Amino acid sequence: MNINVVNQLNMFDETAANQLLLQLKKKPNSAIAFATGSTPIGMYKKLVAWFRNGDIDFSQIQAFNLDEFADLDIESPNSFFSFLKRNLYNSVNIEPSHIHPIKNTEASVKACSNYEKEINSHGGIDLAILGIGLNGHIGYNEPGSDFDSLTHLVQLSSQTIEANSNMFGSYEETPKLGITMGIRTIMNSRKILLMARGEEKAKIVHRALYGSISKDIPASILQLHSNMVVVLDRKAAKYLKETA
Ligand code: GLP
Repeated sequence: MNINVVNQLNMFDETAANQLLLQLKKKPNSAIAFATGSTPIGMYKKLVAWFRNGDIDFSQIQAFNLDEFADLDIESPNSFFSFLKRNLYNSVNIEPSHIHPIKNTEASVKACSNYEKEINSHGGIDLAILGIGLNGHIGYNEPGSDFDSLTHLVQLSSQTIEANSNMFGSYEETPKLGITMGIRTIMNSRKILLMARGEEKAKIVHRALYGSISKDIPASILQLHSNMVVVLDRKAAKYLKETA
């Protein structure tokens, strides 16, 4: 585990974006799993800026969504697919045919197994970009998720629905179901970039990286990944000197 604690606020996004740049230099046709949430937005901005300067080329990548809402039209502005279009895909040179949204209009079991097939047909994920939920979720693998899971349908926890509700106006209007790459899908990625910023993430980051590996904290399994880079701001790294 390679933990980078970034002291200067403006360097957080650049440090994370640099991981993608290195990946694409090494393997231009990498399959990337892209996360949503507030954490990677600045990194995506940085990548768009680098693209505009001619410093990074997305033409060969295969772009996958880490997760999606299951009970929301993927063309809705609040879908994770729309988020990625808005924050990255529409502003860089990703081939439209290389963009792989989770097709949640198919019956969910079929959508999940098809997504796994789609990932495998591109040789698996080279780099999975992850945030972490306040309860330790990765993608939408909520506490209790099976470490052996592939892409699957999930009932979102009330804490996650609450956290998402600001985008939808109220708890009632917020989607209750997600489709996510499973923990095994994520762990099978050749490299993982885990990002967290802000004091509210400090406890869960410490628990995930140094606590016992347990299904209660899905991100704790990442301790077993042999090629993981963690990028944290100083606030999220607040408790990292101690071990749990
Ligand atoms: C959502 C996403 C996750 C993301 C998490 C953290 O639940 N499904 O993939 O990592 O939120 O979001 P944020 O970065 O806004 O804290």
